[in-house]
Amino acid sequence: MGAIGNWGDRVLRRFDQSAQNYNAAATLQHAVAGQLADHCRQHIVPGGLWVDLGSGTGHLAEALEARFPDQRVLRLDGSEAMLRQQPISADTQRWDLRGPLPQWQEAPSLLASSFCLHWLPESGQVLEHWLNQLRPGGWLAVALPVDGCFPQWHRAAEACGIPCTAIAFPEQKALLNSVTGDQIRLNSVMHCHAFAETLPKLLKPLRRVGADCSPGPSLPIRDWRALQQAWPDHDGEGRLRLTWVIQLLLIQR
Ligand SMILES: C[S@@+](CC[C@H](N)C(=O)[O-])C[C@H]1O[C@@H](n2cnc3c(N)ncnc32)[C@H](O)[C@@H]1O
Repeated sequence: MGAIGNWGDRVLRRFDQSAQNYNAAATLQHAVAGQLADHCRQHIVPGGLWVDLGSGTGHLAEALEARFPDQRVLRLDGSEAMLRQQPISADTQRWDLRGPLPQWQEAPSLLASSFCLHWLPESGQVLEHWLNQLRPGGWLAVALPVDGCFPQWHRAAEACGIPCTAIAFPEQKALLNSVTGDQIRLNSVMHCHAFAETLPKLLKPLRRVGADCSPGPSLPIRDWRALQQAWPDHDGEGRLRLTWVIQLLLIQR
């Protein structure tokens, strides 16, 4: 499942640092968690152990508990600071998702995860591992940004000959390599747009939620200015547009 390396440590440290500001800036994550939970509600998901993997401050766990009032959801995350943002009454577990899942006393009947899988190495293998940990008939509900995100950023970078410092998102097909078609209950893709007058403002939510880690060196200010100049996509008011591509998956074991 890939070595536990420096990159993943940096990612976790960054989320740790931003835990207190996370909720104020994570409007997209909040909305996507609600949509994924809505999809879960359209199916009969057996009760038992439900876990939100990479729960952060608990958006998805809360959305699920609101729609399934008799069900508690365990919040699992590698960041202690993120877990501390949860109410004291919430069940939490600190765990590094770069390795195998914990051996709980019962096999989970729902493993849910939103905006986390793309931070883990070998996301297709991780998804396969999660699926195999479910009890038979259990559900995996996952939302994540995928390949195709931020086309405007990539085009501006290419036009200027400046590296695009956004992370590489998982490919939709590669994610599902080990899943058979009849297990997939939902596979949908949403395009969500963010707008702002300047590039720093457009990327501010990424910084505030701690999702601004980049494997490459950071860019000097003049490069960011050049990227803003070359930005290829604006709305009617002249604001820069940034497009997220979000995949929603429901898979039954
Ligand atoms: C963008 S946040 C998403 C939080 C929440 N699921 C939401 O939708 O608001 C990503 C979360 O993944 C967690 N995470 C990243 N790498 C992790 C790892 N290796 N092990 C466990 N959690 C990890 C971070 O600590 C962070 O809380």
